[in-house]
Amino acid sequence: MSMIEKVWNKARSNVKRIVLPEGDDGRTLLAAARLRDEGLAIPILLGDPAKVYAEAEKVGADLRDIRIEDPAAGGKTAAYAEALYELRKAKGLRPEEARKLAEDVMYYGILMVQLGDADGLVSGAVHTTGDMLRPALQIIKTKPGIKIVSSSFLMNCPNHELGDDGLLVYADCIVNPCPTAEELAQIAVTSAATAHDLCGVEVPRVAMLSFSTKGSAKHELVSKVQEAVRIAHELAPDLLLDGELQPDAALVPEVGARKAPGSPVAGRANVCIFPDLQSGNIAYKLTQRIGGAEAYAVLQGLNKPCNDLSRGCSVSDIVNTAALTAVQAQA
Ligand code: ACO
Repeated sequence: MSMIEKVWNKARSNVKRIVLPEGDDGRTLLAAARLRDEGLAIPILLGDPAKVYAEAEKVGADLRDIRIEDPAAGGKTAAYAEALYELRKAKGLRPEEARKLAEDVMYYGILMVQLGDADGLVSGAVHTTGDMLRPALQIIKTKPGIKIVSSSFLMNCPNHELGDDGLLVYADCIVNPCPTAEELAQIAVTSAATAHDLCGVEVPRVAMLSFSTKGSAKHELVSKVQEAVRIAHELAPDLLLDGELQPDAALVPEVGARKAPGSPVAGRANVCIFPDLQSGNIAYKLTQRIGGAEAYAVLQGLNKPCNDLSRGCSVSDIVNTAALTAVQAQA
C-alpha cells in the first residue's frame, strides 16, 4: 500500500473538518466534492456563495451538502475579529484592523481552526505561502516545546531503492529562509517525527546535507551544518542522525560506505535536511520535475494543522494535502 493510500485510510477512520478558504478557485471546488465523495474530510468552503456556485457550475463541481461561509457577510466574523483583537492587541493591532482582517478568507479560516470551528486548513492554490503562513504563525503559533514552525515535503520517488521504499522526507523547503544551527537541529528532530508519525517510517535516518561530507570541505556554511548535527544529537540522543553529508553519500549505499564509513545514516537516509530554504525548495522541485516524484507538503510544529499548496497544484494535490491535514488533526 502506498503512503498516500495509508493516509486516505487513516483520514476515513476519523473524519475531520477541513476549511478550504479559496472558494473562488475551480480546482478547490472539485477537490471539496471529491473529499466529500471519498469520505476523506468534511470540507468547508469560504467565499461569496454566489461566486462560489458560479465557479462550481463552470468547472462542473457538485457542492451538495458542502457548507459555504462568507467572511464578508457577517456570520461569525464579529466574534472572530474580537478573538483576533484579543490575541494580537499586545502587538499593536487595533479593533478596526482586526475587523478588516477577519473579513479576509485566510484570517477567517485560520481563526476557524484556532477557535475549534474547523480541524485544519488547506490553501495555496491561489494565495502565496506567506499569505497563509503569516496569519497561521501569528494566531495558531507553535506547539508547546517547539520553537519554530517548519515544513516537510513527502517525496514519493519512483526509485524504490531510495529512502524508505521510495519515500524521502525533505525539510525545510517552505518556511525558514536562513535557519540558524539551532533551528536546523530543531527542523531535523521535528522532521524525523513527521516521517515516523505521519508517514509510518519505522526508523527515521536523518541526513544533514551540505556540499561537504565529513569535513571534505572547509567553509563557514559547512561549520553551521556541523554545529546543527552537534545540537541535534543533544536534542534527540537516540535519533539516527548524521552529517554533514552530500546527497550522494546520504542516499547511495556504495558512496555512503566510501565517504562516510561506519555512519548509521549514510547510504540509507530517508529524511534529508537542507541547509537553507534555497537549497531545499530547489531540490524538491527538481526531484518532482526531473525525478518524477510525487510531492506533498506539510507544515510541522504548528499547534493546529494548516497546510500549503503550490499555485501550480492539481485537484489531486488538494485532495491529498487535505487528507494529510485531516490525519495531522487526529493526533
Ligand atoms: N516559526 C514560528 N514562528 C515564526 C516563524 C517560524 N518559522 N517565522 C516567523 N514567525 C513568527 C514571528 O515570531 C512573528 O510572530 P509575532 O508577530 O507573534 O511576534 C510572526 O511569525 C510574523 O513574523 P514576521 O517575521 O513578521 O513575518 P515574516 O514577514 O518574516 O514572514 C514567513 C514569515 C511568512 C514565514 C516568511 O519567513 C516567509 O515568507 N518565508 C518563505 C515562504 C516562501 O515563500 N516559501 C517558498 C515558497 S513555498 C513552495 O514552493 C511550496
